[in-house]
Amino acid sequence: MLEIKKVYKNYGKKRALTNVSYQFGTGVYGLLGPNGAGKSTLLQIITDNLKMDVGQVLYNGTDIHKNQKQYKSALGYVPQIQDMYENFTAFEFLEYMAALKGMPKAQVLPEIKRVLKIVGLTKNAMQKLGTFSGGMKQRALISQALLGSPQVLILDEPTAGLDPKERIKLRNHISRLAETTTVILATHVVSDVESIAKDILLLGDGRIRQHGSVEELCSGLAGKVFEGRISADDLARLEQTAVLSNIQELSGGRIEVRCIAEPEKMQALPFPFQTAAPNLQEVYLYTFAMH
Ligand SMILES: Nc1ncnc2c1ncn2[C@@H]1O[C@H](COP(=O)(O)OP(=O)(O)OP(=O)(O)O)[C@@H](O)[C@H]1O
Ligand SMILES: [Mg+2]
Repeated sequence: MLEIKKVYKNYGKKRALTNVSYQFGTGVYGLLGPNGAGKSTLLQIITDNLKMDVGQVLYNGTDIHKNQKQYKSALGYVPQIQDMYENFTAFEFLEYMAALKGMPKAQVLPEIKRVLKIVGLTKNAMQKLGTFSGGMKQRALISQALLGSPQVLILDEPTAGLDPKERIKLRNHISRLAETTTVILATHVVSDVESIAKDILLLGDGRIRQHGSVEELCSGLAGKVFEGRISADDLARLEQTAVLSNIQELSGGRIEVRCIAEPEKMQALPFPFQTAAPNLQEVYLYTFAMH
């Protein structure tokens, strides 16, 4: 459905993307990676808001530049930067965005009502965006991307600033959409995508470091995640050997620890550990904190 082929992008001498290729079908694709990894650059290229140096983006087999109008009307995009029209009301903002998308007039009003309801802003429709809280602005930004039920939905850190209730609501909505839509979602919050993503792409330093389903990625780390109960003194020693993924203080000065390490290094430690089932956060840490 959506394919990126050998995409390269430099900003001056700074390399932002190197040889990035991927095929996306319907479903949620989680894009994870540290600050500066190239996530936003890749999403700006996919949405045709930024020119790549080399490479191609294909939608249903056709280069997006050969079919720009059709592609734009199939696309919804939540950019990372809240570049808002502060003097517009939420309603005016959505009217404007619907016009930019070329939405037929008869659809505009029902669509605006529909998307405002999804993000819980129905009561705030006539309020100016400049008076919105950070999380409300973010929800307004998400609502414009949902106008017209796009086939391709690109979300760049959509949950930034959302409270837990809104975060879960959005996750559930995206999960429902994903049956018929290609959703690419960049985030730092592993739990935003862990339960709903078909595939995860781990982007580091402009390259895809790892990709696959959550299950595949986690099983690739089997045997390298450990848990145990140790003293505070042991903790300092453990930190030199392993990357800590979770610590919890127990009563009596003991600490429960989960960590990631090469097995032979753990065997050399004078305190007992058991292997544990890896989670996606640990895959992330292994990919970016250890290599
Ligand atoms: N307009 C620009 N001009 C020059 N360099 C840029 C520009 N935009 C991004 N970069 C650089 O390209 C690299 C990738 O940036 P990008 O914004 O794509 O990362 P990101 O993965 O989205 O990071 P974050 O998690 O912080 O949002 C970084 O090194 C960044 O400094
Ligand atoms: Mg970014």
